[in-house]
Amino acid sequence: MIQEFNSISKVQGELELPGDKSISHRALFFSSMAEGESRIYNLSNSDDVKSTQECFEALGVKIIIENDDFIVTGKGYNNFDAPIKPLYAGNSGTTARLLTGLLITQKFQSLITGDYSLSKRPMKRIIDPLTRMGARINASENETLPLTVKSAKEIKPATYELPVASAQVKSSILIAGLHLDEETSVVEKFQSRNHTEKMLGLKVEKNGSEIISYSSKKNYPEAKEYFVPADVSTAAFFIVLTLLSQNSSLTLKNVSLNETRTGYLKILKEMGGYIKIDNKQEKAGEEYGDIFVKSSELKNIKISEDIIPNIIDEVPILAIAGIFAEGDFEINNISELRSKETDRIKAVCENLKLVGLNIEEKETGFMISGELGNHKVEFESYDDHRIAMTFAVLSMLLENGSKVNGFDCVKISNPGFLRQLRKVTI
Ligand code: S3P
Repeated sequence: MIQEFNSISKVQGELELPGDKSISHRALFFSSMAEGESRIYNLSNSDDVKSTQECFEALGVKIIIENDDFIVTGKGYNNFDAPIKPLYAGNSGTTARLLTGLLITQKFQSLITGDYSLSKRPMKRIIDPLTRMGARINASENETLPLTVKSAKEIKPATYELPVASAQVKSSILIAGLHLDEETSVVEKFQSRNHTEKMLGLKVEKNGSEIISYSSKKNYPEAKEYFVPADVSTAAFFIVLTLLSQNSSLTLKNVSLNETRTGYLKILKEMGGYIKIDNKQEKAGEEYGDIFVKSSELKNIKISEDIIPNIIDEVPILAIAGIFAEGDFEINNISELRSKETDRIKAVCENLKLVGLNIEEKETGFMISGELGNHKVEFESYDDHRIAMTFAVLSMLLENGSKVNGFDCVKISNPGFLRQLRKVTI
């Protein structure tokens, strides 16, 4: 589907965005693992989270919707039903990787599959540590999906140092560790998002610049209530659009403010963005609050390596802020972006070349300079939701508007994106 966007004159009003995708996945995981009934408020309505829901339903978990809340009747410790069909993770890396960590501990064999994009994404990063723990996983020749997870003779605890910052890999190992008496630990050099640790109340230690997270059977989840704050990564598109539009202001209500996710707010503030946080609160270990943002003059800054894991999903939209900011935009140490739903470095660079900017694409980053042209172009989503929303925002900021090809993939994280835009743009 090709979606046309006209240039907007301003952003104004208030929005309450759907629940955070990362927290939603984990709320479904932990409530499905627990014994008995949990209630999840404001679960994300994204296709990715639906993939997690359907996988757990295939494992025998009962999930019903009551007044917009999700009531999950979990199976309890090591008690999932053997699935009678492949567990389809769709486009969702979080579903596939966290599920593998859970399934290595079960007494049956299962098969995890995914869509075209997910079937090309690296799985060696979970196969290696989980195999060390005793898992028996067969992957395709390229160490990608489909994964056959066989029942293991014995699962042993591990101490694993992450070679790349990844909350998905960390969570996969920690979830497996929830089934063992002895502690399993994951060591990170740069901290990736920590929802698994916070939602399970895991022990986390700092040793110099390293962060070590531990899990064991005593952290196995119990049935409870989960509140999912609005998705701070989805908020990024609205925040950048508001900052870059004239005479604009926007309030985003109840947005997740977990410190491992708000790196981009810090960067935008440092760039000169007017961003204020109000009504900060905490529920079930996760912080959230209201974000108020208004039109600002931005200037580019140096982006340091240690913040990259905290802005991993927001790099494409930060690049749009960078185009309109004073000076050239440069970002490095982001080779992980090449392994996302699409190669996001290439996707951003190719799209930006269409509007006449000078792009220097490097293996581990990119640099943008030059002036935006006036030509009406058609951006490509590469079937990646964050690329589609990034170039929707750029389209609305171009004098003559523009189009995004393959726009329907936004449903992967935010099916209501167009409706939300219509509510707050003029
Ligand atoms: C996620 C972790 C990140 C992020 C993804 C969601 C999660 O991936 O890009 O959108 O929920 O754990 P990595 O952990 O692989 O960097």
